[in-house]
Amino acid sequence: MPPLAIVVLISGNGSNLQAIIDAKQQGLAIDIKAVISDRADAHALLRAQEVGIPCHIITAQTHPARTDYDLALQQLLLQIQPELIVMAGFMRILGASLVEYWQGRLINIHPSLLPRHRGLNTHRRALAAGDRQHGCSVHFVSAEVDAGAIIAQASCDISDHETESSLQQKIHQLEHQLYPYVLSQFCLRHITLVREQAYFRGKSLFRRPLSPVSLQPQT
Ligand code: GRF
Repeated sequence: MPPLAIVVLISGNGSNLQAIIDAKQQGLAIDIKAVISDRADAHALLRAQEVGIPCHIITAQTHPARTDYDLALQQLLLQIQPELIVMAGFMRILGASLVEYWQGRLINIHPSLLPRHRGLNTHRRALAAGDRQHGCSVHFVSAEVDAGAIIAQASCDISDHETESSLQQKIHQLEHQLYPYVLSQFCLRHITLVREQAYFRGKSLFRRPLSPVSLQPQT
């Protein structure tokens, strides 16, 4: 099977991008065709440049209108022709037509056990809600934010002494294992989206996302 051609969309630090780069260096059969950022100063760009991945920057300053932004992004994506677009801390909401065009080929990682805590500040909200468990989810992107079909989740306990920052650290550690795992399943062409539902080797993941038991925070 040929390596899976992916594009990674980022806005910030890029620790998930780094985990994907590391996994590729350890044998994950992906070809990272490009990294696209909406911020010129994103640290993730340095991580990509370090290993020679082509980088592109499309900012809200040069494309203030959402439709113009999406058009520029779409033109670039059509040139690159990825099999899968991997959002890894990309902080823009994509318009419905772009999302629809790439439906089934556009995924995101979110720092909560979806459908709990969609949106921002998920660690703070999990603590404020008194949750005993927290985690991260990889899901297909749909027009509604953080609401697309869930592919995989990893979770951890919230301890009595947990702080927002200790929880964030745990979740990042889970994310860095979960995203490469999910990509490995895409490489095997095991994951598909059919009528807005995720499937793993033909079996619906609705209510039972992939949940590799071996994934644990290291702290
Ligand atoms: C991650 O927590 C991810 O779940 C969220 O944004 C954060 C990105 O972190 N969507 P990084 O840039 O990969 O370090």
